[in-house]
Formats: sequence, C-alpha cells, structure tokens
Amino acid sequence: MKPAHVLLVSALVLIFGASPACSQNGAEPKATGTVASAPVEFRAGEQKFNANCSRCHGIGGVGTNQGPPFLHKVYEPNHHGDPAFQRAAANGVKAHHWQFGDMPKIDAVKPEDVDEIVKYVRWLQKQAGIF
Ligand code: HEC
Repeated sequence: MKPAHVLLVSALVLIFGASPACSQNGAEPKATGTVASAPVEFRAGEQKFNANCSRCHGIGGVGTNQGPPFLHKVYEPNHHGDPAFQRAAANGVKAHHWQFGDMPKIDAVKPEDVDEIVKYVRWLQKQAGIF
C-alpha cells in the first residue's frame, strides 16, 4: 500500500504542486487544471484530498457520480463538523443522505492527514459561499 500511495502523492505533487517557489508573495499562480490551486497553507490538504477523496467527492469538492459534493449546505461546519470527517475516513459512511452507496473507510489517510483535508475543504466551502 504505502509505496503506491507515496508514488501517487508524488505524481500529484508533480501535477498540482508544480508552481514556482515564489508563490507566497501575492500573485497565486493558477494550476494547469480547471481548479485554481489553493493558497499555500492549504496545499498539503489539497494534495491529500486530491489523492484520497476527489475520485468520489470531485476535484475542488464538486462531487462526482460516485459521491456527494462538499460544496453543499449539508457539509457546512455546523451540520458536519470536523469530527464527521475523521469518522468518515476512519470508519467509512453508510449511505444515508444520498443515493451514491456507502463510503469505504480510507486506510491511506491518518488523522493528521484528515485535519489537513478538512482545512482545505473548509477553505473551498468558504470560497463557494457555503458558510
Ligand atoms: C469511493 C468513494 C468515496 C471516497 C474515495 C471518499 N468518499 Fe466520502 N463519501 C462517499 C459517499 C458515497 C458519501 C455519502 C454517504 C451518504 O451520506 O449517503 C460520503 C460521505 C462523506 C462524508 C459525510 C459523512 C457523514 O457523516 O454524513 C464525509 C465527511 C466524507 N465523505 C469525507 C471523505 C473524505 C475526507 C475522503 C478522503 C479521505 C472521502 N470522503 C473519500 C464516497 C467516498
């Protein structure tokens, strides 16, 4: 598991993290994809989200046909607080809000990774005016 995961993360770092080191002084370079790269303090979470969550929750949290969007009132902090993210990653989720089926637990992420992912997701939600 670990080597493949590390490889995947490295590949994503290459794809998403290939911005110049000077990105901290104001002008944020756009990623080459459709979604602008997050500010530097959210990049670690962005990469972990892209590596572990986006195949169902979508790049940028917009959802896919495998899982719900996080850019949705249902997932704002007062409805699904940060512990809900820890529980989802650690235990998986039985389908209850949607028709996508169950979410499997995500073994590749540790609680510290989920903390970073949540910070990134909250940033996305703020950008989208969810809360
Ligand atoms: C294989 C697809 C899949 C992947 C990968 C996935 N999810 Fe999910 N996730 C789902 C589905 C489907 C639901 C909706 C279940 C429902 O409520 O019907 C869900 C729901 C959730 C919820 C809501 C939990 C609740 O209490 O209602 C959270 C939080 C969540 N996912 C976080 C994550 C995070 C963080 C990752 C990455 C570490 C991730 N998911 C990866 C499919 C996935």
